Amino acid sequence: MIIQKNISLKKYNTFGIDVNAKRFISVDSVYQLQQLLIAEKNIFLISGGSNMLLTKDIEKLVVHIDIKGISIDREDNNDVYLTVNAGEDWHQFVVWCVSNNFGGIENLSLIPGNVGTCPIQNIGAYGVEVKDSITKVEAIEIETRKLIQFSNEACNFGYRNSIFKNEAKGKYILTSVSFKLTKKNHQLNTSYGAIEDKLAFNKIINPTLKNISDAVIAIRNSKLPDPKKLGNSGSFFKNPIISKQHFSALQTEHQNIPSYVISDTEVKVPAGWLVEQVGFKGKRFGDAGVHKNQALVLVNYGNASGTEIYQLSKKIQEMVYNKFKISLEIEVNIIN
Ligand code: EPU
Repeated sequence: MIIQKNISLKKYNTFGIDVNAKRFISVDSVYQLQQLLIAEKNIFLISGGSNMLLTKDIEKLVVHIDIKGISIDREDNNDVYLTVNAGEDWHQFVVWCVSNNFGGIENLSLIPGNVGTCPIQNIGAYGVEVKDSITKVEAIEIETRKLIQFSNEACNFGYRNSIFKNEAKGKYILTSVSFKLTKKNHQLNTSYGAIEDKLAFNKIINPTLKNISDAVIAIRNSKLPDPKKLGNSGSFFKNPIISKQHFSALQTEHQNIPSYVISDTEVKVPAGWLVEQVGFKGKRFGDAGVHKNQALVLVNYGNASGTEIYQLSKKIQEMVYNKFKISLEIEVNIIN
């Protein structure tokens, strides 16, 4: 274990923000992490770096989680139970599952980031959330260095939310995630409009896991920027949930406002639509901007600072609030 000095974090965060780590270490086993924690408690964790906006140099020791490995714990005729270490790339894991005909996460193809962070924000796309396939999460408690298991229930999953964004925040290092996936009778989820359209366009009537994964990849590629080419962190804001009353009031002025029903009293409004309505879609300010195909995604054209992107997000929040009286909540972790 070698601690490196003054390392640029540009390649460790998908926004491509160039800040420095005073000290940096990459760890590839749980044991190494536990050893490290004997001497170092004040650490800053970085995994896939796909859900953070870095705004300044990191003074704490930056610990890059690089623990790899996938194991099949057991299987029966219908299901397979897997444990995947935190440092595995999420999309590569999805591709591996699809190629083995393990079903449940194919709609989550091409989401940037590592397996170890997927439970934190309960990644979701095209009608599927990862919480529905997770059986347990294992983590080191930083204070005691003990390995702790969180059952699915204990993770307290919600829309882009979990215990790891709330009470447990900053107290644990997620080391592995366990999944239950189907081997047959897959519960395919093709209800999301764009997937249905894509499958119909390709004349696919009985889709395989691969067909769905391919459809998702095509949809994402057409809307969402590839972080390797254009820095971004996916959706910057959550889709806000508002009361039906508030929604009805807005509808009188904006007849075409889209929505998804959440409950008898609440609806979710796509934040991308709100950002577009206040004129920010495709706008660029220096190297910080809003993506041209999906207004929910803020982008770094090359050398934007985290602060510039954060300031742009504040401006968007203000404009959306003034026009719709809706407060957009930031989904990405702002490191300041
Ligand atoms: N819309 C616009 N303008 C835009 C973008 C969207 O008007 O620029 C409206 C359209 O009405 C569109 C609707 O928003 O029909 C929904 O857009 P989309 O299907 O792209 O989904 P989203 O609600 O904007 C959410 C997730 C994405 C996920 C997609 C697909 C959140 C915060 N975002 O976006 O997740 O891929 O659904 O399921 O829930 C991410 O979290 O990083 C992410 C990309």
